[in-house]
Amino acid sequence: MSFKALLEALPIPILQAPMAGAVSDAMAVAVSQAGGMGGLPLAGVSPDEIAAAVDGVRARTAAPFAANLLMAPPLRPQAVELDAALARLATWYAELGLPLPDHPNRFSHDFEAQLDALNRAAPPVASFSFSVLTRAQVDALHEVGSYVVGSVNTVAEAIAWAEVGADGVCAQGFEAGGHHGHFLADIEASSVGTMALVATVLKAVDLPVIAAGGIMDGRGVAAALALGASAAQMGSAFLLADEATTGPIWQQAIRDAGPDATRLTRAFSGRYARGLENRFVREMRAIQDEVPAYPVQNRLTQPMRAAAGKSGDPELMSLWAGQAVKLAQSGPAGELVQRWWREAQETAQALAARTAARPAKT
Ligand SMILES: Cc1cc2nc3c(=O)[nH]c(=O)nc-3n(C[C@H](O)[C@H](O)[C@H](O)COP(=O)(O)O)c2cc1C
Repeated sequence: MSFKALLEALPIPILQAPMAGAVSDAMAVAVSQAGGMGGLPLAGVSPDEIAAAVDGVRARTAAPFAANLLMAPPLRPQAVELDAALARLATWYAELGLPLPDHPNRFSHDFEAQLDALNRAAPPVASFSFSVLTRAQVDALHEVGSYVVGSVNTVAEAIAWAEVGADGVCAQGFEAGGHHGHFLADIEASSVGTMALVATVLKAVDLPVIAAGGIMDGRGVAAALALGASAAQMGSAFLLADEATTGPIWQQAIRDAGPDATRLTRAFSGRYARGLENRFVREMRAIQDEVPAYPVQNRLTQPMRAAAGKSGDPELMSLWAGQAVKLAQSGPAGELVQRWWREAQETAQALAARTAARPAKT
């Protein structure tokens, strides 16, 4: 079966976005069981634990699901660079009463080792953000029976994934919450809205396209399908779901947020990501271009963000959320997916009635 056929055979063409730090395996299972496709984030999972994580979902649903890795580059910064980066964070650590962390031994899990583990785990779908696999890596996943999906923010990135043999692309628009996966051009050149991105990617590559970014309810799902996407991927829409691991501070910040409350920031992780604007985002803005690249800055701010979370201080936490996050609803993830699909069907019917041929006016 082609990946396009698999998406078209889903009872509900809604993919729950893999969201490191926000998604539990229970959520991925619930969405797949409800007829959509769950997404298991594995970025923070060690190579040794990847098989158990994938098998844990597989044991609880016979329906397809995706497992996701972030392609972190193996950066080895100099001590002097780390000292400078930590000095920029000193006042923030002091504010929390924490000592500055020592130079870490590593900044993220080794991607190559995670990929080997993912090959052994052979999830139904393997998805990737932040870069592009080689053809040999894609072929190896195909050999174990996994479909391969790459996240793209531009047409050029979609072509790059098509050239290495991917089965589909996830077109992540500028609206999206969390990290933006762009890897060929800078953030400005890679800031394309979901509507423009899906339509232009569809024209450029002969692959099924999954639309992501700003899709929060059935109207958004219907719009994505109307554009020609094979499925809609929703992330922020699940941040208040019962199975989310976002926790009370993050969830309250979403509820308290005013309109237009998200910004793109590089300050937390060294890679542009969209979240609710808070004091850290505001006050680091002037120097955000100076911080070391992902995953280095991400690792250096980790103890700060964790401590802020523990002490209930949303101003120093990375509150990832998309532009339309105020439309997020609470409830069991499976019920949300089924509700959005009913809404999408109603939207399509209303639209069909509205666009039905009418006698020409004379
Ligand atoms: C809290 C959060 C965490 C995310 N983590 C990941 C991740 O681990 N891997 C990934 O490929 N995308 C991640 N994303 C991006 C989503 O896959 C998706 O592109 C985005 O949520 C879509 O936009 P929306 O939030 O407007 O629905 C994350 C997004 C959020 C909001």
